[in-house]
Amino acid sequence: MNIHTYEKAWLAIAMVLIVGFIATITYGAVGPGIAMIDDDGGTIDPDTINDDERFSDPGVTHVSGNEYNVSVVAQAWSYTPGEITVPANSTVNFHVTSRDVTHSFTVVGTNVNTMVVPGQVSQMTVEFDEPGEYGILCNEYCGEYHHTMEGKLNVVPEDEFDLTEVDTEAPDEAQLGNETTINATVSNGMNYDLETTATLEIGDQTVEQDVTVPGHGSEAVAFEVDTADLGTGDHDWTVTVDGYEDGDTLTVTSATEGGDGDA
Ligand code: CUA
Repeated sequence: MNIHTYEKAWLAIAMVLIVGFIATITYGAVGPGIAMIDDDGGTIDPDTINDDERFSDPGVTHVSGNEYNVSVVAQAWSYTPGEITVPANSTVNFHVTSRDVTHSFTVVGTNVNTMVVPGQVSQMTVEFDEPGEYGILCNEYCGEYHHTMEGKLNVVPEDEFDLTEVDTEAPDEAQLGNETTINATVSNGMNYDLETTATLEIGDQTVEQDVTVPGHGSEAVAFEVDTADLGTGDHDWTVTVDGYEDGDTLTVTSATEGGDGDA
């Protein structure tokens, strides 16, 4: 059989294209390590999301090394948390579920794009190499304010990332001459111990205390304050831990004024 030269050429081009298409699809499926969204996340009762340990306090948790879990709850018309911060060079496992209707969780400019169906937990693993800022949006129509449903994902340099928090509790008022206590709670969300220093600044006094906070734990620090050193009046104070601070104002009253018996 004699095949015309042009026909041979077209046959050859067609074969190349077919092989090319198959190669592209194969590479896309296995090459860049993109996992298809699956049902590993399992099911969840949308009415009891707050009782589920993954979603009772949604946000970032440190697993180990450079691996983090991020749980997100979608609801009309926002994400909780609205802003997510993870470090660069990390592997992040997202778990997303919905409290009400079907939404999506789409990280603009990445291949993260999943439907978020009430009763289901969408799960995906993403590697973030470089610092950057990404918008998160919902692209499943979910009601009147669908177009306003958005969030933010920050990938920050590794040395700028930690999961330290500081909360304080202290009386607003103390009588001159009495001691009072400013209590701070330092939380460490990383999966290893945090050795750091808590610093109280009040008036012109600075008090430092070393504290070791266990991984995924918190530690209380108590600062004794002698009001005689401060004198009467309002004294702003802050407790600082690793760049995080919390504070308030302590009013020292003279023994005769105020004096509503809390001494
Ligand atoms: Cu949520 Cu559209």
